[in-house]
Amino acid sequence: MGSTTTLEADATIADKVSEGATTTNPEVVKWVTEIAELTQPDQVLWCDGSQTEWDRITAEMVEEGSLIPLDKNRRPGSFLARSHPGDVARVEDRTFICSENEADAGPTNNWRAPDDMRAELEPLFAGSMRGRTMYVVPFSMGPVGGAITQLGIEITDSPYAVLNMRIMTRMGQAALDGIVPGSEWVRTVHSVGAPLEPGQEDVAWPCNDLKYITHFPETLEVWSYGSGYGGNALLSKKCFALRIASVMGRNEGWLAEHMLLLKLTDTANHKTYHLSAAFPSACGKTNLAMLQPTIPGWKVETIGDDIAWLRPGPDGRLYAINPEAGFFGVAPGTGESTNPVAMETLWGNTIYTNVALTDEGDVWWEGKTDEVPEHLIDWQGNDWTPDSGRPAAHPNSRFTVPIQQTPTLADDWYGQDGVPLDAILFGGRRATNVPLVAQSLSWQHGVFVGATISSEKTAAQEGTVGELRRDPFAMLPFCGYNMADYWGHWLDMGERLGEHAPKIFQVNWFRKGADGRYLWPGFGENSRVIDWIIRRVSGQVEGRETAVGVLPAEGELNLDGIEEVETELDELFAIDPASWLAECELTEEFFGRFGERVPTALRAELAELRGRLDA
Ligand code: GTP
Ligand code: MN
Ligand code: MN
Repeated sequence: MGSTTTLEADATIADKVSEGATTTNPEVVKWVTEIAELTQPDQVLWCDGSQTEWDRITAEMVEEGSLIPLDKNRRPGSFLARSHPGDVARVEDRTFICSENEADAGPTNNWRAPDDMRAELEPLFAGSMRGRTMYVVPFSMGPVGGAITQLGIEITDSPYAVLNMRIMTRMGQAALDGIVPGSEWVRTVHSVGAPLEPGQEDVAWPCNDLKYITHFPETLEVWSYGSGYGGNALLSKKCFALRIASVMGRNEGWLAEHMLLLKLTDTANHKTYHLSAAFPSACGKTNLAMLQPTIPGWKVETIGDDIAWLRPGPDGRLYAINPEAGFFGVAPGTGESTNPVAMETLWGNTIYTNVALTDEGDVWWEGKTDEVPEHLIDWQGNDWTPDSGRPAAHPNSRFTVPIQQTPTLADDWYGQDGVPLDAILFGGRRATNVPLVAQSLSWQHGVFVGATISSEKTAAQEGTVGELRRDPFAMLPFCGYNMADYWGHWLDMGERLGEHAPKIFQVNWFRKGADGRYLWPGFGENSRVIDWIIRRVSGQVEGRETAVGVLPAEGELNLDGIEEVETELDELFAIDPASWLAECELTEEFFGRFGERVPTALRAELAELRGRLDA
């Protein structure tokens, strides 16, 4: 248990902060003191990440009515939280990159000058923790001491955030001990923005209508105000591990990416491979990370499902870690038939947010089981029956679960310095045009493919080339600097890696036939595509070169047991030059948004693609 200090009037806040401090690093103590003096909490708690601390915080929250304990026999150690109905998702329009120069944030981010933003935030944070406990949460992204690891501290007045941080990161004393004077670490501050007057009763989910998710990349700071929800409150995740880390990576020669991470073992030859994949949100990362292969010869193990950090190792290869320690996954649609590995992972020790509660004290959400319970308490706490005419769980309801509970977890997750990457995949939801799989013709061509990833916006718009949403590298909401500079950084990385660079592939599980059906069965069957990719990487298959990349040659894709797909192959791999050329127009328009900053190598790739399509 960390120590609790009550801030009495007879002692200065500074004295009280340093009395309870579990570090002697004066930089940390000074920073925590400054934040406490600004926010004026009743108490300061230095968290140690222990089970005792978890038990105490959960018991307090249950007592206050902000957590509902689930049935101990059905979901041991698990709790349900119900958010304020207006605090259910990330708020992209309230997310700001506060770099000194506006051009450094680029056209895809909201920008505010750092001094202006600080002036705007200061009155909001002043006294914002009154009547509450301020928790000091030290955490490590990656194993403490690892070659790719980074450290940070989150100060928060939300016990819900503390519990989630304990699942999502390696939180506690070891991380704090790693933060030594002069070392690089990330400072993050979070307040729900709901101070309590003396005697005022608290609500189950405090938050503020006014929200700010702000990033200061030059000083490695995050300030988040007004929301208690996941991506807005767990500052290790999108705020640090993607937005701030992408800038650290640019400055220091590494990459922070919205990618899953997989280990593959060729069981006959005992050879192992690793791949990462970037797909936009809701395009299948968590599903692929827990792949159950349908073809023999492969063992697939999970390393990460959302974020990967990539850094060249001493042997010149590109090494990757999953900096997180848990999954913050979307619940609806996760069920025995779609993702049995996730369902097994969720046996206990899980925090559920905004799912429905069953009469037996278990949880339910749309898609969990085919059978729908006759009575539930919905995510807002109201009675629900199948004819209520509204979803029982919020569409963005989530589970937070420790990664160590994953039955398919690879030992490599524990590894100190990461795994060497053999292949990188890019994908999106494309009903048309994009083939099931295509290998890029070079690293540079692969960067072009990543930079132009797109997904159809909705089912209604599918099939119309004009209505694509560009999501370069699946990083559109998460890149902390100018996206065009980010592409340049990827090109530089390729030069540095040279012949050691992983091979880049584009995949598309979502191509549809004229009748609107998916042409490819997907899910576990995606192992067939992975199998071809690895055989390409290891030089066992030739493929056939087309204008958009190298596709599987006749007979190279293993279709044993799903021979019926054979009839769809032409459509799955069809490349229509006219539609591709129309898409090139859109790419040119898209590049136009970034002006002169688009690397010439990418404009050259566009010209070459057009040339190949015209030929
Ligand atoms: P974030 O966690 O928000 O970054 O998203 P994610 O990329 O992890 O998405 P997730 O795995 O949760 O994707 C969920 C959606 O993709 C669900 O609707 C799945 O049914 C669907 N999906 C996943 N894999 C496949 C597939 O191979 N084929 C098809 N047709 N759908 C798939
Ligand atoms: Mn996911
Ligand atoms: Mn994500």
